[in-house]
Amino acid sequence: MTLLSTSTTAASAVFFCLTMQPIIELQNIVKTYSTPAGDFAALRGINLRVYKGELLGIIGKSGAGKSTLLNMINGVDRATSGEILVRLNAATEERVGQFEESQLSLWRGRTMGVVYQSFQLLPMLTLVENIVLPMDLCGLYDARTSRERAIELLRLVELEDQAQKLPSQISGGQQQRAAIARALANDPPILVADEPTGSLDSVTADTIFELFEHLVSDQSKTIVMVTHDSSLAPRFSRSLTLADGELVSDSENAHSGGLRRVASAQKKVATKPARPKRGTKRGAK
Ligand SMILES: Nc1ncnc2c1ncn2[C@@H]1O[C@H](COP(=O)(O)OP(=O)(O)OP(=O)(O)O)[C@@H](O)[C@H]1O
Ligand SMILES: [Mg+2]
Repeated sequence: MTLLSTSTTAASAVFFCLTMQPIIELQNIVKTYSTPAGDFAALRGINLRVYKGELLGIIGKSGAGKSTLLNMINGVDRATSGEILVRLNAATEERVGQFEESQLSLWRGRTMGVVYQSFQLLPMLTLVENIVLPMDLCGLYDARTSRERAIELLRLVELEDQAQKLPSQISGGQQQRAAIARALANDPPILVADEPTGSLDSVTADTIFELFEHLVSDQSKTIVMVTHDSSLAPRFSRSLTLADGELVSDSENAHSGGLRRVASAQKKVATKPARPKRGTKRGAK
């Protein structure tokens, strides 16, 4: 009886592994920069699977390759070799490398919001205009809906009352919240963030992190955030360490009992489709 239930659990765990497709998959990603001093490998064969609903932290020192890695995922730069697959649902699989330059910003707009350390709001536009702009570029919403949506997003990040201000007229934390609202403009299922708390004091950084937690738990977003701040590791649903262009640790691997963990994830998915609770660990490749 025990044997039977153990093998049943193992079999269903294997089934889960085989059927649960990652929303982002990196296959042996290499990025080599040509410099006057010769070629420099910034990423040396990265294999990674990111699952829907993860708040994934990629932690590493300056120069580890964090920004390079994010720029591969969001298509800002191209890998020297390897493949990046994005699966927004069971029926679609897109290769980031397949897009022409002209298609990329459209694809990024509806697929992946990007948040930077330096906010990068346009200084001559008000906050609401900054958020309407990517909607205008993507063309998913008409003018009236775009504006209503922008106000709604500013409400989400608690900046509705600042909508008509210029970025220079609000604080750094508020600018980052506005930048997150902008990243959500076309309702992308994925957010990627490059040191989004790096320019902020620790209290303000905390509010930004809480906003990310909220976006994962309440809006089913998948977030990949890079940071040099290793103290944040326990707050991610999963954290990876990048060093010298290689993934050297995965919080997934810090725990034993892979099958048990997968079976428990399967139970959670059964009760709440496709959105693991924070702290749920999933397999990296
Ligand atoms: N365009 C480039 N040409 C040549 N080398 C580059 C280029 N961009 C980045 N590098 C090198 O690749 C390595 C990884 O850079 P990257 O910017 O990804 O690091 P990072 O982990 O984001 O660092 P930081 O925390 O300082 O932002 C570094 O050694 C960097 O000098
Ligand atoms: Mg960087």
